[in-house]
Amino acid sequence: MIIVANWKMNKDLTETRLFWEDFENKITLDSDFLLQKENILIAPSFPFLHHFQTKCSEKISVVAQNCHHDNSGAYTGEVSVKMLNSIGVKYVIIGHSERRMHFNEKDDILKKKINLCLENNLCPIVCFGETHEDRALNNHLSVIEHQLNIIPVEGNKKIILAYEPIWAIGSGKTPSIKEIEEVHSYVKGLYNLPVLYGGSLNEKNANDILCLPEVDGGLIGGASLLSDTFFSILKVANNIMRSKI
Ligand code: PGA
Repeated sequence: MIIVANWKMNKDLTETRLFWEDFENKITLDSDFLLQKENILIAPSFPFLHHFQTKCSEKISVVAQNCHHDNSGAYTGEVSVKMLNSIGVKYVIIGHSERRMHFNEKDDILKKKINLCLENNLCPIVCFGETHEDRALNNHLSVIEHQLNIIPVEGNKKIILAYEPIWAIGSGKTPSIKEIEEVHSYVKGLYNLPVLYGGSLNEKNANDILCLPEVDGGLIGGASLLSDTFFSILKVANNIMRSKI
């Protein structure tokens, strides 16, 4: 089970520290808590990655929300895979729909980012998902298959996929359980990789979604910003894992 908190452009230093103090208490004091650092992934903003990596990486894994597609160079404001590597970060979110939409990230760029991560031992968490229109036209599976062409097929690569229907992100709407099952089974038939679900995942719907055998975890935006709600979702994941032992 892999649960990723994607904080996007939220939380300043004080808020980041307060979250961690409260969250660390919760996971340390809960004697029933099984989840380890490979199960709990948090993606704060770039300025706090180093702080997180230094202070928190015994208990959780630190994730970058993005990286540049070149190794180095004249790219003002960008962050390279080498920089992330040098502070010990092991995961990077690639191709989030907000990056595709607001920063015009296209397949050729995303492919370069994925390859650069893999060459540098970073695990890309690659997001994909259909628009509302694609789903209404019943085109979602072919759109998804096309989006996933950026995934290298050869070799045994450490990649995590995240199904995030664009219309479900931050909207409070989620696909039905059957719709989630359909997409996850389809993608798992194409790639032998873990597939997370993301898009308005919260403490109320977490159990129904995370207990599906095709769902390997969740990518959580809004509901990961408060330590209470993020911890509640982790407890759901914890109980599902415990029931499988
Ligand atoms: P959300 O965001 O949980 O707020 O819908 C998920 C995401 O964008 O990764």
